[in-house]
Amino acid sequence: MTYSVRKAVFPVAGLGTRFLPVTKTVPKELLPVGGKPLIQWAIEEACAAGIEEFCLVTRPGEDLIEAYFRPDPDFEQALQIKENRDSLEKIHALHALGRVICVPQPEPLGLGHAVWSARDFVGGDRFAVLLPDDFLVSERPCLRQMMTTYETVGGNMTAVIAVEPHQTSQYGIFDGADDGDMIVRARAVIEKPDPATAPSNLAIIGRYLLDPTIMEILAQGMIGSGGEIQLTDAMNAMIPQTPLHGHRFSGHRFDCGTIIGFAAANAFHVGQ
Ligand code: G1P
Repeated sequence: MTYSVRKAVFPVAGLGTRFLPVTKTVPKELLPVGGKPLIQWAIEEACAAGIEEFCLVTRPGEDLIEAYFRPDPDFEQALQIKENRDSLEKIHALHALGRVICVPQPEPLGLGHAVWSARDFVGGDRFAVLLPDDFLVSERPCLRQMMTTYETVGGNMTAVIAVEPHQTSQYGIFDGADDGDMIVRARAVIEKPDPATAPSNLAIIGRYLLDPTIMEILAQGMIGSGGEIQLTDAMNAMIPQTPLHGHRFSGHRFDCGTIIGFAAANAFHVGQ
């Protein structure tokens, strides 16, 4: 089946403070799980869902991520001379993913602002957003699970999982009703609510399929939770015109934004 979403945005402009000092120079998204950077896992997941164009939203002046995806004929020639076929294949697989472009997020004003920074790339097309530090393992890649349903429901969609009730203040949380086995239709979504007032424990994880009109809402620069421009608030504001659905992710999720989640992802990968 071919899907109508062909573009994906990857916000990678964070400071990675939990991983300092290494993240002083190496962006968190280049840290490896099973020897492969988090960003490459995310791009491969997008590829498996039919995405063909990739836009990374980076920190101004940060060029290591861009360099990672730039072909390097001298490096390849050095591998060729050594007749290192396995290594060459890994490099060829990296460059076969497609064209990756980078746009800067001029200021760290939140996830919504990072996505808005990719507005020229998105244009008038539906698009995906993947947060690479949400490392997802499943037989059918998460974005692909979502894409099949998205072709029918359209609007905005996120992947969701049930979290422990005390964790609601770390996530965007759905207030919604089941609409089929895997799908929840949102009445509202709230960014990082206090457990005492959270409408449920159904949390957004870092996969989104979005209608391009979200850029008009993000352009208003509405300030939300944590003093930042939140993607969750934009999706919430759109609900009266543009439905929001949650797709229950089935598989393993590791929060590679934390040292413990990152270590667990690597341990899981070794055990596979
Ligand atoms: C972001 C989103 C949040 C979502 C989370 C998933 O938060 O704002 O709605 O639940 O990603 O990982 P962050 O973790 O960047 O603070």
